[in-house]
Amino acid sequence: MRLLFLGPPGCGKGTQAKHVVERTGGTYIASGDMLREEVKNQTDLGKKAKSYMKAGDLVPDDLIINMIRKKIERDIENASFLLDGFPRTIPQAEALGMMLDGLNQPLQKAVDFQVADDEIIDRITGRRLCATCSAVYHVKWNPPKSDGSCSACGGDTYQRPDDSVETVKNRLQVYHRQTEPLLQYYRDKGILVSINGSGDISEITARIEQSLGLTLKA
Ligand code: AP5
Repeated sequence: MRLLFLGPPGCGKGTQAKHVVERTGGTYIASGDMLREEVKNQTDLGKKAKSYMKAGDLVPDDLIINMIRKKIERDIENASFLLDGFPRTIPQAEALGMMLDGLNQPLQKAVDFQVADDEIIDRITGRRLCATCSAVYHVKWNPPKSDGSCSACGGDTYQRPDDSVETVKNRLQVYHRQTEPLLQYYRDKGILVSINGSGDISEITARIEQSLGLTLKA
């Protein structure tokens, strides 16, 4: 399928997106992961993006659109992909629409995960990631089997620098101001699917499965 996962920071879209792509295949395009790689490699884009990401602000549209355009042109050779975290503004959505129309592969569904702001703060401040394979954990709700090391590959886990309480509060404000208007944008296109993002990770997976008519069980 050609999917977009939308929602506030920490709503669980990355956790669910990885699960969906593992089960159904297709190209996974996560703008946040791509940007963190650019920062790590100290590329020109990474150097420009770093301060915005650290503050919890959006990286300017032209930089992001360029990065995603290159990825889509290079990697989307089949009709199945999942976009996670892009687009986040109306200009980004319009640019994406033009790119996909040009490839004759328009989005089929935009999935919005609804989670209250208080729960978001608990989720993000407890998040830990594997430095080697990028697996995502939560200290309380989805801990690795042994503290500080990844259950999948044994790599060290770490906390993202933008996962502090203060930065998360700003990321939530940015989401409500700049990204939430996309819900109406995709509702008007008739492809918005809203999912309650509260509950166990497996419950949310079951809701996605039901809403999209997919089979995601292991
Ligand atoms: P990005 O990396 O995309 O961050 P985000 O959108 O803020 O989303 P997160 O990765 O924080 O959350 P998520 O929804 O994936 O949640 P997760 O599954 O990890 O972007 C980072 C920055 O890059 C942005 O701030 C911006 O600066 C820049 N950027 C990126 N894209 C951009 C764009 N398009 N335009 C401009 N700038 C851009 O889950 C969170 C935690 O909760 C985890 O610990 C997880 O284990 C846990 N969890 C998940 N599900 C559940 C559940 N059901 N119950 C309990 N815990 C759960």
